[in-house]
Amino acid sequence: MKDSYTQLVNSPIGKKLAEALGLPRPTALRRDEPGAPLLADPRVLVVGGPASDPLARRLLAWGLEVHRHPSPGTTYGAIIADFTAVTDPGQLQEIALGVGAALRSLGSSGRIVVLGRTGSTEDDPELVAAQAGVVGFMRSLAHESRRGATCNALLLDGDFGLDAPALEGPLRFLLSARSAYVSGQPLVVAAADGPGAPDPERPLEGKVAVVTGAARGIGAAIVRRLHADGARLLLVDVPAAGEALTKVANEVSGQALQLDITAEDAGRRIAETARRAFGILDVVIHNAGITRDKMLANMDAARWGSVLAVNLSSQLRMNRQLLESGALGQHPRIVCLASTSGIAGNKGQTNYAASKAGIIGMVAAEAEDLAETGGTINAVAPGFIETEMTRAMPTVTREVARRLNSLSQGGRPEDVAQAVAFLASDAAAGVNGQTLRVCGQSMVGA
Ligand code: NAI
Repeated sequence: MKDSYTQLVNSPIGKKLAEALGLPRPTALRRDEPGAPLLADPRVLVVGGPASDPLARRLLAWGLEVHRHPSPGTTYGAIIADFTAVTDPGQLQEIALGVGAALRSLGSSGRIVVLGRTGSTEDDPELVAAQAGVVGFMRSLAHESRRGATCNALLLDGDFGLDAPALEGPLRFLLSARSAYVSGQPLVVAAADGPGAPDPERPLEGKVAVVTGAARGIGAAIVRRLHADGARLLLVDVPAAGEALTKVANEVSGQALQLDITAEDAGRRIAETARRAFGILDVVIHNAGITRDKMLANMDAARWGSVLAVNLSSQLRMNRQLLESGALGQHPRIVCLASTSGIAGNKGQTNYAASKAGIIGMVAAEAEDLAETGGTINAVAPGFIETEMTRAMPTVTREVARRLNSLSQGGRPEDVAQAVAFLASDAAAGVNGQTLRVCGQSMVGA
């Protein structure tokens, strides 16, 4: 959906008007295009100690120009702050202020990636405190970011260094335009065995994926993204959406399956159809979801029951059946749609928030089972996304909701699709059981 306000304040006259009135002027975000370079500006500033050397070598291998100290007059496409060797809060300052000194040199839609470590209760309290501090630093810096820049963290889970293969995919994703609407988010990365990093242009080449709720909205955007990334597709939606489903399926030469995912045997039917059409199933995207909003005092059993059945119970059942079916490939990847409502709650959405919070719990609980099969399960929690659903909101409510994030604009279905595609690919082999927010660092539940 068009964001007329952003277009207006970025026009020559609108720009002057916005400046005079002190109005927010959201930057048009740099989004992914085929063949586009990883960063808008290839210069990357790496702030950190000697432990950052392997990282600098990796960036050079990607064709980026690596600087270890800010030089006057130089602009940067990205700043990477390496806190992984920090074991005491006293060591945070030098790196934090080193980033601060370079901030004004970060270009439009620039990237800040903060590297840290997860702390466990067995570690020294100093280390745990310092590393928890890294996340607080990142979240605040994301709030301070300007001109479409994002700031996120990768937290290494385990005793490994910055040359670990598992880090490559998540780092590329956060540096690239594919993460345009992801900001203020920590992502935990574990050392992962198994498949190497895929081709960044076609990360899903040769994979077979099923997408539920594929006939429209975010589901259709996911289908198109996975197709562009090289996947073959099975598209699922209810019979009532059959015509739209066929249209999207034809666009990507995919296979359409009319199926209500609340059916008792939905997982088995998906497995069977994928096996017949493609021989295998590598990726499962649980996108189908519904809202039936009402304040709890007026909530009835039908509203509550249908939302929980479609959004949560069906996924639990389908996952069980899919794992038992033997149809899944060697490194299966499951990605589920949660929502920021499931994190922060939302008036009138007790049923929806319960279902989406349930998804966040489900992916954490099923991560170990998936890891045993060599796979992963994660969720994406979208914030305000420009869809039919948000178009239907009253104008003023929509305008306020749209601006309540660090990027002062709504996301697009393709922003959600990019995050889903990343988690569905072997580039995210070290990410498991997590929920990644695609919300522009929404103030809701931040
Ligand atoms: P949408 O309503 O435009 O599309 C949902 C699709 O799921 C439809 O094609 C519908 O027919 C299908 N579906 C519904 N029940 C089904 C069932 N029982 N079996 C099979 N298919 C079924 O929704 P939208 O906006 O594209 O959302 C997609 C997902 O993203 C949902 O899970 C939603 O909760 C989540 N989400 C959306 C946000 C937004 O801003 N639009 C924000 C946060 C989360």
